[in-house]
Amino acid sequence: MKSKNFLIAGSILSADLLNLEQDVKQALDEGVDVIHFDVMDYHFVPNMTFGPAFLKAMRQKFPKAIFDVHLMVSPCSENIVDDYAKAGANWISFHPEACVHTERMLTHIQELGLKAGVALNPSTPPQLLRYLWDKLDFVLVMTVNPGFGGQKTIPATLTKVADVKAMAKEANKDILVEVDGGVKDSNIKEIASFGADIFVVGSAFFGASDKKAALKSLHQALNDE
Ligand code: DX5
Ligand code: ZN
Repeated sequence: MKSKNFLIAGSILSADLLNLEQDVKQALDEGVDVIHFDVMDYHFVPNMTFGPAFLKAMRQKFPKAIFDVHLMVSPCSENIVDDYAKAGANWISFHPEACVHTERMLTHIQELGLKAGVALNPSTPPQLLRYLWDKLDFVLVMTVNPGFGGQKTIPATLTKVADVKAMAKEANKDILVEVDGGVKDSNIKEIASFGADIFVVGSAFFGASDKKAALKSLHQALNDE
């Protein structure tokens, strides 16, 4: 089952790390649209995760999957982007707080032939987007503070989704908004009503004992009239 105009991005942060190949295969077989990699450095966020060699190994196993790399690293450099691009990323987002030249970084990602996104922390205002539309393919709105899976969506972040959509519309730009943090079947419909296009789902999919049923219930909630 798929939901028209919406994409589900499964965050492997909540997957079974010792059985990742099976977990990702199942996700793709069941119809998860995108695989989301949360890259953490113990500096920008208080946690540590996946390096480029890990992404490369996944790419070898899943040559056709869309890999969405969310860089929570500081400083975020062009070298880091290059390493993840070479390893097989399709989309790369980074946090502007971690990067001195945001526009230059977006340009660099696009020049590598990838989709470029800015990730906004819950307390980061979206106004900088006004100066970046030409270099942006998507905006990742964090609906929790980055660093961990399984947290609760911060309600105040949802109006930012609507703000970003309205700003993009005003600028006549077709930008996808990805929401990341605490998305589950009980709130996905409400989050969609603020204008989100892509839903990162970690614990509510990879953390579920029955992943097939979990994905079905996310789609059912989204399609609920
Ligand atoms: C948090 C990460 C998220 C996280 C989402 O820093 O960016 O992608 O894995 O996990 P859930 O869906 O469990 O909130
Ligand atoms: Zn993420």
